[in-house]
Amino acid sequence: MLIAQISDMHLRAAGDLLHGRIDTVGALADCIAHVNSMLPRPDLVLATGDLTDWGRPEDYRLLRRMLGELAMPCYVIPGNHDERAALRAALGDCGYLPSGGEFLHYTIDGWPLRMIGLDTVLPGKVGGGLCTARRQWLAERLAEQPQRPTVLFMHHPPFPSGIGFLDTPPFEGGEELAALISRHPQVRQVMCGHIHRAIYVNWAGTCAAIAPSTVYQMNLAFEPGTGFVMTNDPPAIALYLWNGEVGPTGYISLISNASSP
Ligand SMILES: [Fe+2]
Repeated sequence: MLIAQISDMHLRAAGDLLHGRIDTVGALADCIAHVNSMLPRPDLVLATGDLTDWGRPEDYRLLRRMLGELAMPCYVIPGNHDERAALRAALGDCGYLPSGGEFLHYTIDGWPLRMIGLDTVLPGKVGGGLCTARRQWLAERLAEQPQRPTVLFMHHPPFPSGIGFLDTPPFEGGEELAALISRHPQVRQVMCGHIHRAIYVNWAGTCAAIAPSTVYQMNLAFEPGTGFVMTNDPPAIALYLWNGEVGPTGYISLISNASSP
C-alpha cells in the first residue's frame, strides 16, 4: 500500500499570486500531474490542510474540481488557512467528512493501514490543538481496533518543529495527545503539515513527520528571532509505503516540471 501526502497547497481560485509571485493553481496542477504519473501509483492521497489560502467558497469549488483529476481517492483535512463551513459545503458529499458536528475528523477503513484524520484547527489562530472533545473522539477510535496498524494525519504538528517562530504558542493539548498515543502502540506514524519543510522526529513512542509543501518551502529558522523567509527549495510530496511488516517507510518525492519556485 502506497500513500501520497500532499500538504499546504494554499490554493487561490482567483489566480492572484501568493506572496506576489507564486501561481498556486499551477502548483496544484503540477502536483496532481506528478502524483498521477508516479510508478508505482499511490493508492490514495491524504491532503493535510492549508488546502486553500483564503478559505473562500470559490477556492473550494476549484479545489474539488482539481482533486477530481487525481487517479485515486483523495481525503482532505483542514488547516489554519481553511474554513470548515466552506470546505464542508464544497466537499461534504465526497463521502468521508462527517455531516454533522463541529469538527472535520474521520477514519479511513478498508485498507491494510487504518488512517485517522484529525482536525487541529483553532478558529482565528495560526497555531493548532486538540481540545478535550477531539482527544476523546480519537481515544474512542483508537480503542475500536487496537491491533490494526494505524496512522494519524493532521495539519498542525503536535510536537515542536524546531522552527522557533512556528513553535510558539505550542500545540494546545499536545502533552495529553502524546500520552494518549503512547498508550496505543498500533499508531505507527503521525503525518503533519503546516511548517512547509520535511521534518522527522520520534515522538510519543512513534514516528512523526512533517511533509513539505506542494507550493513553497520555509527557511530553517532555528535561531531565536529568525522570521519567515520563503526559500527556493522545490515543491514536493511525502510518500509512505506499507508492506505489512516494516514501516510505514517514508519518502520525499520532488515535484518534477514544477511551475512554482
Ligand atoms: Fe501552510
